[in-house]
Amino acid sequence: MNMLKGRSLVSITDYSKDEIIQILDLAEEFEKNQRQKILDQYVIASLFFEPSTRTRLSFESAVQYLGGSIIGFASADTSSVKKGESLKDTILTVSCYSDLIVMRNPMDGSARYASEVSPVPIINAGDGVNQHPTQCLLDLYSIRKTQGSLENINIVMIGDLKYGRTVHSLVQALTLFGATFHFVSPESLKMPSSVKTWIKNAGLEYHQYSDIMDVMPIADILYMTRIQGERFPDPLEYEKVKNSYILNKQMLEGSKDNMRVLHPLPRVNEINEDVDDSPKAYYFQQAKNGVYVRQALIAAILDLK
Ligand code: CP
Repeated sequence: MNMLKGRSLVSITDYSKDEIIQILDLAEEFEKNQRQKILDQYVIASLFFEPSTRTRLSFESAVQYLGGSIIGFASADTSSVKKGESLKDTILTVSCYSDLIVMRNPMDGSARYASEVSPVPIINAGDGVNQHPTQCLLDLYSIRKTQGSLENINIVMIGDLKYGRTVHSLVQALTLFGATFHFVSPESLKMPSSVKTWIKNAGLEYHQYSDIMDVMPIADILYMTRIQGERFPDPLEYEKVKNSYILNKQMLEGSKDNMRVLHPLPRVNEINEDVDDSPKAYYFQQAKNGVYVRQALIAAILDLK
């Protein structure tokens, strides 16, 4: 029985370990055979109140590979939100035109609220600094593909761990698989205590560092993140930390053979372009994996697989 049928995905914690694995296995099937016209006559709405390249376009690509139609907007400026329409009214209206809604919104908690008022399932494509569960699923897919398993990995997360919604979701998911966490950040961008408590409650370990090289030799996954200028209440604080970590190819010497560099992207300065041709760079393939995972998610929620 498909337990994901008709359910919204707001937080990665909405899914059990088995449900996560269900999506990853299905994504593998789509990677082998991407063009399956199972979404014929379905309409998916894509509401992006915040900028996006990968999430929005990979959802659009996923829908089109599945033979469905997609409607929506890439900016709130082109919708009636600009005239003052509420989120509730927007969701109730768009649900009249679609079978499922994908939404990115800058407000924490907006996706949960949308899922409570919507008659059709909501997929959270990022809500403020809170959650980015579809990114989390594609990160898990990429980790499993490169490491052969999700169990007991050493993951190093680097950069903006305070405002980074992708790392918050990924920590929560990886606690289901027994990871050991290594956090590298400036003092002002440390992982929030709520996330660290989550790890402790799962009986797992985390370690904090200020220098990437202290942890490079033990990393299975180096998960780089952008320091997000747009999240800082004070631009001067951003200026102080914006170039704290810049990974270059030479720094990868001495890392494990299986180690791979992931990044949710976009990058700004935090990975030098000389890393791109290293066999350890995996971030563009990671972005590609997003299409398979989003195909799987749509197919599971609409009970087409
Ligand atoms: N990784 C990610 O969410 O990228 P976009 O902001 O381009 O969607």
